[in-house]
Amino acid sequence: MDKKWWKESVVYQIYPRSFCDSNGDGIGDLRGIISKLDYLESLGVDVLWLCPIYKSPNDDNGYDISDYRDIMDEFGTLADFDELLEKAHEHHLKIMLDLVVNHTSDEHKWFIESRSSKDNPYRDYYIWQEGKNGNPPNNWDSNFSGSAWKYDSRTDMYYLHLFSEKQPDLNWRNTKVRAEVYDLMKWWLDKGIDGFRMDVINMISKVEGYPDGEPIPGSKYGNRLPYVMNGPHVHEYLQEMNREVLSKYDVITVGEAPCTSVEDAIKYTGFDRQELNMVFTFEHMDVDSDNGLKWTDKKPDLVELKRVFSKWQTGLNGVGWNSLYLNNHDQPRMVSRFGDDGKYWKESAKMLAVCLHMMQGTPYVYQGEEIGMKNMVFHNIEECNDIEAINAYKEYTSDGRIAPEDMMRYINRKGRDNARTPMQWNAEKNAGFTTGTPWLKTNPCYTEVNVAAQEEDPDSILNFYRKVIRLRKDYPIVVYGSYELLYPEHDKIYAYERILGQEKLLIVCNFAGEAMDLEIPAEFVEKSAKLLISNYPETKITDTLHLQPYEARVYHIEG
Ligand code: NOJ
Repeated sequence: MDKKWWKESVVYQIYPRSFCDSNGDGIGDLRGIISKLDYLESLGVDVLWLCPIYKSPNDDNGYDISDYRDIMDEFGTLADFDELLEKAHEHHLKIMLDLVVNHTSDEHKWFIESRSSKDNPYRDYYIWQEGKNGNPPNNWDSNFSGSAWKYDSRTDMYYLHLFSEKQPDLNWRNTKVRAEVYDLMKWWLDKGIDGFRMDVINMISKVEGYPDGEPIPGSKYGNRLPYVMNGPHVHEYLQEMNREVLSKYDVITVGEAPCTSVEDAIKYTGFDRQELNMVFTFEHMDVDSDNGLKWTDKKPDLVELKRVFSKWQTGLNGVGWNSLYLNNHDQPRMVSRFGDDGKYWKESAKMLAVCLHMMQGTPYVYQGEEIGMKNMVFHNIEECNDIEAINAYKEYTSDGRIAPEDMMRYINRKGRDNARTPMQWNAEKNAGFTTGTPWLKTNPCYTEVNVAAQEEDPDSILNFYRKVIRLRKDYPIVVYGSYELLYPEHDKIYAYERILGQEKLLIVCNFAGEAMDLEIPAEFVEKSAKLLISNYPETKITDTLHLQPYEARVYHIEG
């Protein structure tokens, strides 16, 4: 397999609003990130992915961009960005920006022009359709509840918004739109940034004719997914983007691609395809949903999680590349979701790190994950900030589909605000995130869960992450080895091998809060495999491993 720096990298994701506030306004900013570069370098990560930092009215916290070539006021200035980029490079950290071009803000000048009249030169930058007898053009639902179409009285037509009303979808069929996007990408790349994470990039091509979607039970809307995901021209557009822009720079690219199969992902990431390096897929994030519905408190199913990961690991091996993540700014905290954030908090956070980082693909660490940050308790919907949760709460409770107290329980389990509470730097006021009032409440667990305390403790989750990240650098098998699942039906243990020529790794992770025995493949005992890492004190290798609650071990045999 070809060696590439982005295959050997670990990415650290920053949600700038919640990372570090340098000026006391309660909102994280670029100078805050600059002040933490030593810390970030010390983790051993290679790339920083910054969630959107561009000008935005913040209807969806920056995923609604009103100017692609300027910085959000709260975050600082372009001069701050230039300094961040330069200093990050001095710290051997690359910068990957979020590219949000499925939609803009309705306050972007293109949309302001577009909505002003039917013959405006920007009209065709967006997707406008006539209504049907006073109703929207079709029954598609939006990702953030309600119809995906918004009526605009100025021209008596509807525009498409797959997300909020303030996020109108761009019309990628228009060559001018594509040229604008390539231009702004070059503008940032010429500044020296190192790559893009592309927001919902598999939604940029919609099926023409805008047919109605299958009705959604209990809702007046229909399912838009078959008509907007992985649409008819998406690969043509990405290949064009690659030809026009990406091929001219040595960069890392990851496309967010919900509802994507292994076959689709091979098309996006195939080594011979000239599209993207890797995609973020979502199948493993569905192991605790209810027939695709996120709002439930179903527990994750380990056998299903292993099946999904393994399908992707073997499906892309040698042909494309995986991204590896268990949480991000849209997902709850992984230790609360897949581990135990109570009694075995420390053990389970470490175990999850091992389980994920030893797979094939580029791992993503979401801010705070490296100290085991936990889900928050939101007592009522007024305490939440996230537009998805707020709209879903309104929609599901108002039509009686979900009782308000159940919906709050689901939001506490799955809501995006769980990941967006301020980063916990120390045990001082507001966890050291701000001297002002934080824009979202600080998780009370900060008195125990914080960076400063974990720096002091050699056995902390933080110091464990440093070791796990280091393994990827020291053992090329972690990057390039193939993957084989062991004991697929075991519902408490996730065990797999990595194989590179004669060399092997055995990864064993106990997902249960109780001790477990596991017989391991004989060759690891016969060849006196070396223990590379474990979250419990070292024990001797035996035919049957006696695993402690949430124990993880990695054994290595040389070729
Ligand atoms: C995916 C982003 O990760 C999410 O935060 C955002 O709300 C939507 N795309 C819309 O841009």
